[in-house]
Amino acid sequence: MSIKFSFGKAPKAKSDIAVIFTFGNKTLTAFGKELDKGGKGQIQAALSASASFEGKTGQVLSVSMPKGADFPRVLVVGAGDPKKVDILTVETSGANTLPVLKATGAKCASIFVDAPKTLAIEETEFASAFAAGIRLRSYSFTEYKKSQTPQALAQIDVILEKTAAAKKLFDHQDAVADGVFLARDVMNEPPNKLYPDSYAKRIQKELKPLGVDVEVIGEAQMKKLKFLSHLEVGKGSERKSCVVVMRWHGGPVTKAKKTFSKKPVAFVGKGITFDTGGISIKPSAGMEAMKMDMGGSAAVVGLMKALAARKSKAHVVAIVALAENMPSSKAYRPGDIIDSMSGKTIEVWNTDAEGRLVLNDSLTYVQKTYKPKFVIDLATLTGAMMVALGHEYCGTFVNNNDLWNKLESASQKTGEKLWRMPLDDAFRKAMEGKFSDLNNVGNMGRFGGACTAAGFLEHFIEDGMPWAHMDIAGKMDQKGDKGTTTAGGVGFGVRVLDRLVADHYE
Ligand code: BES
Ligand code: MN
Ligand code: ZN
Repeated sequence: MSIKFSFGKAPKAKSDIAVIFTFGNKTLTAFGKELDKGGKGQIQAALSASASFEGKTGQVLSVSMPKGADFPRVLVVGAGDPKKVDILTVETSGANTLPVLKATGAKCASIFVDAPKTLAIEETEFASAFAAGIRLRSYSFTEYKKSQTPQALAQIDVILEKTAAAKKLFDHQDAVADGVFLARDVMNEPPNKLYPDSYAKRIQKELKPLGVDVEVIGEAQMKKLKFLSHLEVGKGSERKSCVVVMRWHGGPVTKAKKTFSKKPVAFVGKGITFDTGGISIKPSAGMEAMKMDMGGSAAVVGLMKALAARKSKAHVVAIVALAENMPSSKAYRPGDIIDSMSGKTIEVWNTDAEGRLVLNDSLTYVQKTYKPKFVIDLATLTGAMMVALGHEYCGTFVNNNDLWNKLESASQKTGEKLWRMPLDDAFRKAMEGKFSDLNNVGNMGRFGGACTAAGFLEHFIEDGMPWAHMDIAGKMDQKGDKGTTTAGGVGFGVRVLDRLVADHYE
């Protein structure tokens, strides 16, 4: 069950718990003092008695209130030095308060925001960031968990003066959270349930009602349009490949509309619904995580949901390249020389380097068909990316400094960490073939594997087209690759790209 958020000047109904803040000390705010009066000084007493609570961020003190008080329980949350408070720490603090709130068994909570004048951000920003942090942390994937005790916490009222402004900020973040949750949902779906065809239907079901124009390109049409490299990857699977194009015209449409009134921005996502490696099969340990090899596409779909849900003014085209990479007598082989939409031929050295083979056709297609302002692709592309940056950063290869600057600023604002990686002639050259134009592994062996993969994709980018390639392999799983059981999809990319679009393209 999801939590309902509301913003008001006073609590809507009787709450089981009040959340209040102290800013870097044990001093109650004006409202806190009032509350304390009704509670016979219990809050101040608990604060004074606590040796560990100092009002720093991350600190929480739970106070049980005497009979007759307005709330049976008060949670004092440390917000830190008001002059140093920033949106991201407030968001984290909201997220970390959720488990404490849940543990109290409260059904309804009221969060009272009355910050000192010295607060470094707007009080409205504080309120919406704290609520957004709670919302983002509240995600769970329960689709297949039949035995579930329902969660109690159902309602959160955020109380402050400027309710309308706070609500407006929160509505944006709420839409983004909807997008993040959809991205996580499709990543967490098992690969027997989510495969190209069922995934395409899910995308239609989620996005069409919001006014996104969704076009599914099936195999027959893919052949005509020459998605030839992509089709090779899916050949080994019973499940047919497909491409899904999503268009958002700065507002909703009810009928298919293939052309834009303004140059769109473009996003492309790798959507391998399961990556066995194909004939170059992967080792079995941890292979179940490869159901999330559609994480790039999940981010793109989630982004479209966020943009549509918050009625973005931007013009956006998004493409996801869906296929399942399986070994079979029908599968493509190492040694095969295959064609692509670009006309370039590719020798397959390893069928496990399939992401770049599905992506190149969609990159060609989106540039030719839509002449976008820029193209950004997202893909769980290489294990080498994780070797380089671990699970902390998404390695980002960008051919345009202006686009990188915008991405970096969006990254800093949202906390989705990007690290710029190199594009280089040497990496492009490494991907040239002996008997074909290109090969899909390159001649640098294991070394620089994320960079050569980017170098391969760069062969499909038109001269002068601003382009970014985000290798999100390390940001796929919540836990990373420790252990063989996956901890769930991150939904990485939705927030940073929503910020990029919001700040510069609408
Ligand atoms: N989907 C994998 C990369 C991956 C591995 C993502 C683990 C997330 C977690 C990709 O298709 C792949 O197998 N890449 C190969 C490329 C190599 C054969 C050139 C890799 O990284 O080993
Ligand atoms: Mn692979
Ligand atoms: Zn893959």
